[in-house]
Amino acid sequence: MTTQISPSVLAADFARLADEAAAVSDVADWLHIDVMDGHFVPNLTVGLPVVAALLKHAALPLDCHLMIADPDRWAPDYASAGARNVTVHAEAAAAPVRTLRMIRSAGARAGLAVNPGTPIEPYADLLAEIDMLLVMTVEPGFGGQSFLDLVLPKVSRARHLIARHGGEIWLQVDGGVTEETIGRCAEAGADVFVAGTAVFGAEDPAAAVEHLRSVAEEAGRHPRW
Ligand code: DX5
Ligand code: ZN
Repeated sequence: MTTQISPSVLAADFARLADEAAAVSDVADWLHIDVMDGHFVPNLTVGLPVVAALLKHAALPLDCHLMIADPDRWAPDYASAGARNVTVHAEAAAAPVRTLRMIRSAGARAGLAVNPGTPIEPYADLLAEIDMLLVMTVEPGFGGQSFLDLVLPKVSRARHLIARHGGEIWLQVDGGVTEETIGRCAEAGADVFVAGTAVFGAEDPAAAVEHLRSVAEEAGRHPRW
């Protein structure tokens, strides 16, 4: 398992997205883009035109997290546009197998996300269709919320399911990930960490990424799952 950091631009200055992305491009693994439609979540952010524009300027691969009501309709377009990872929510996808396969056949990695109250066990049969499982550690919709410790047992169960399934499926956590909480996530078996406020709210975003990575790597040496 390799620790990866995916800074979320939700906490960045949207008027200076390319500059904000550049500030972490030498130290982060991904750039996390939260796409919200005001229906699946009660917030509205950016869509395909902004992602397409960012693709021309950002050095990092884009990790698009679609919090939208109709991912079946839109997810393949993000992959075709050039997003390297496209994650859809299990709660929103009407035809997840078809949608995940379309994401992959458009050349992207396919991710499946579950909200804090959604169990992962019903999705065990979909593991063959995905490259990453995202376990939300806040209710999706807003940055800067408090980390939900109650999700940690599910992170461990997800890591077990993935280990039993075999193959290289990444386990991502998103929401309230900070220097204080990232260690618990790593111990529970997560290996890809989204952080918005902890990175772009910091005085030095690049240093924040490096610090988060070192805390996660250290904690990951003592797995508790
Ligand atoms: C929440 C988003 C997260 C959010 C994380 O709905 O999916 O990616 O930006 O922000 P922080 O790290 O501030 O909780
Ligand atoms: Zn996100």
